Amino acid sequence: MKKVLITGASGQLGASLQLNDYDVIRTDIIPQDDQYNFTILDITNEKQVKDLLEEEKPNVIVHLAAMTNVDGCERNPEQAQLINVQGTENLLNYFDGKFIFISSDYVFDGEGGPYSEEDDVNPINVYGKTKLEGEANVRRLSNDWVILRTNVVWNIGGNFKASFADWVVDELQNNRHIRIVADQWNNPAWTVDLGNVIESLIEHDAKGLYHHGSSHVINRYDFACMIANVYELNSSLIEPITTKELNQTAQRPLKCGLITKKLENDFNFTPSKTELDIKAAKIRTEL
Ligand SMILES: NC(=O)c1ccc[n+]([C@@H]2O[C@H](COP(=O)([O-])OP(=O)(O)OC[C@H]3O[C@@H](n4cnc5c(N)ncnc54)[C@H](OP(=O)(O)O)[C@@H]3O)[C@@H](O)[C@H]2O)c1
Repeated sequence: MKKVLITGASGQLGASLQLNDYDVIRTDIIPQDDQYNFTILDITNEKQVKDLLEEEKPNVIVHLAAMTNVDGCERNPEQAQLINVQGTENLLNYFDGKFIFISSDYVFDGEGGPYSEEDDVNPINVYGKTKLEGEANVRRLSNDWVILRTNVVWNIGGNFKASFADWVVDELQNNRHIRIVADQWNNPAWTVDLGNVIESLIEHDAKGLYHHGSSHVINRYDFACMIANVYELNSSLIEPITTKELNQTAQRPLKCGLITKKLENDFNFTPSKTELDIKAAKIRTEL
């Protein structure tokens, strides 16, 4: 049985990654969910990385660990560099199996999305720049790699600090008025769909760069309204605003999103519909 080591496994995406047919080692800097057994691994600690990889000898690494707070990366670029770039390099220096790196549509500038794998990159914030440098490390240091770019990764009911969808549900359930940007466009990726894609990439021994997302590019305000409608919450509490009005610390690429044709052609991937994903996520939380 193939051995798969996951970094950042107690994060939002890691929690949805099942990999039932594999011997899985779940690692994270601070395990946050005791549903699984976790091994402590700080990817910025080179000795810890070396010792664990030499001991476990995995066939595949699914590298999810990252500093994902986009404004946090902008405020602390050294930390973002350390985790997203150096941390990735540390793993690659002590590993020669299949390396699967989850990257982001934030490697693009958002002037002309949605983007295909052939489009030119041009990140406009620290998070995007460090993810792109992470990609470059993967191409440089691995002979057997997959870079899977995805966007607006979401789930509901997992208690993760980075979860936009949970925040929307929580605010509306408490009758609070929220302001959401209507000019940031993506095709949001449900963690469960993304987890299945990662499993399929391992199964098919995929190689190279792939883009992942759902079937339609929508703006963040419409995404929030979709969540409100499925949860039968009051969508009139959601006010559409512009990115300029929100004045976030890091600049955001506006017209983003990812074209998934290559994934569809190579692996029979069918992009999911976000509204149906939200319905399915709701049913899961009610079980
Ligand atoms: N979220 C999105 O919208 C999105 C979009 C495109 C791509 N991605 C990529 O998808 C991957 C998974 O994202 P996610 O949404 O699951 O993010 P997440 O919930 O923030 O998970 C990342 C995990 O990595 C951990 N981590 C941070 N520093 C670490 C270190 N030095 N060593 C080991 N683990 C460390 C985090 O722990 P702490 O929470 O304690 O810091 C967290 O558990 C990331 O690579 C991200 O860049 C995400």
